[in-house]
Amino acid sequence: MSSGFDREFSREGTHSVKYDGRQNKFGRPDVIPLWVADMDFATPPAITKALIERASHPIYGYTHFPDSLYDSMANWIQQRYGWTIKHEWIVMCPGVVPSLNAAVQAFTKTDDSVIIQPPVYFPFFSAATNNSRKLLHNPLQLKNGRYVIDFDHLEQCAKQAHLLLLCSPHNPVGRVWNEQELTRLLELAEKHNLIILSDEIHADLIYPGNRHHVLAAMTENSANIITAMAPSKTFNIPGLNLSALIVPDKKNRMAITQVFNTFHVSAANPFSITAFEAAYREGKNWLEALMVYLRDTCDCVTAYLADHLPEIKLIKPEGTYLLWLDCRAMNMNDTQLEHFFIHEAGIGMNPGVQFGQVEGSGFMRLNIGAPRNTILKALEQIRNAAKK
Ligand SMILES: Cc1ncc(COP(=O)(O)O)c(C=O)c1O
Repeated sequence: MSSGFDREFSREGTHSVKYDGRQNKFGRPDVIPLWVADMDFATPPAITKALIERASHPIYGYTHFPDSLYDSMANWIQQRYGWTIKHEWIVMCPGVVPSLNAAVQAFTKTDDSVIIQPPVYFPFFSAATNNSRKLLHNPLQLKNGRYVIDFDHLEQCAKQAHLLLLCSPHNPVGRVWNEQELTRLLELAEKHNLIILSDEIHADLIYPGNRHHVLAAMTENSANIITAMAPSKTFNIPGLNLSALIVPDKKNRMAITQVFNTFHVSAANPFSITAFEAAYREGKNWLEALMVYLRDTCDCVTAYLADHLPEIKLIKPEGTYLLWLDCRAMNMNDTQLEHFFIHEAGIGMNPGVQFGQVEGSGFMRLNIGAPRNTILKALEQIRNAAKK
């Protein structure tokens, strides 16, 4: 049965990074673009409707964050994650990546160390290095096809650092950290007085059989846990650049607000506010349908690789629409691997080394947030190229 998610849109000419940025990124304009993390699906109709209504009032002046915006987010978090938050804990931000940078500035000093867990979304690296902080790598371990945290090594790192940038669920390895892992993390953080910036931007994108736990909701002592969330990935509105930090502790909240204030970044854009609120208020059913579609696509990819491309192994995702492909059995170095996918198969993916020179070597990240036909076509192209 055809689903709304099967509908193909031409995004060319919309200044889309994913489409119109291909020449720059891949050196050719015609690869099937399965890279940057947005989706090729129409955003939920309720969001488009709210935006059209707002646009039909022809004055787009300075705007503040209305109470109804905070309500919509607090209700979403309460209903999905059972976490009760106060409006005053929410700090609206112009995106999660800016928040990572702001957290580094607010909670560490020059030359302090910041822990990250590669392979990980590349702005985690630059959030530290942009700000002249040292990076402490606590690499994830791949055990029996599944990534896990090396807690002993993390404990060593925690003795020398004040901040951990946690990716939960994890991009690109697709782990949804479970209760046991997060409890252990909280114990370790408390013992070593570690602040955790928990980037939960992918929290809503969870496959059946897994459950996202908000880290801060798991402890009475959440003062040192800063949670980043947004409807941007979930509802495909990342171009609108609005996210939120949830900071229960007043001192920490003031510290991070102060960083944003130094740039006078208010983030209050009439369109992003409208979309953010409509997403959390009315997006639930759309999200359920999306996850069914993504799960089915993921099953198709798994079956296709097993049948036709056994040298590429999919690390089974527990969440996110980003698949982490283990291509090490293709016996190519990273330059050859990139060349193969771009120039022989005609596919634009993110090379694994972008997520960690060592930990990502031999891997590629595939974005399945596109109509299934597009994904199947891409797999066919990879298969045909591999035959040659
Ligand atoms: C883990 C993670 N954090 C943050 C972002 C980007 O957030 P924003 O666009 O709000 O800066 C992404 C996008 O892929 C992501 O995967």
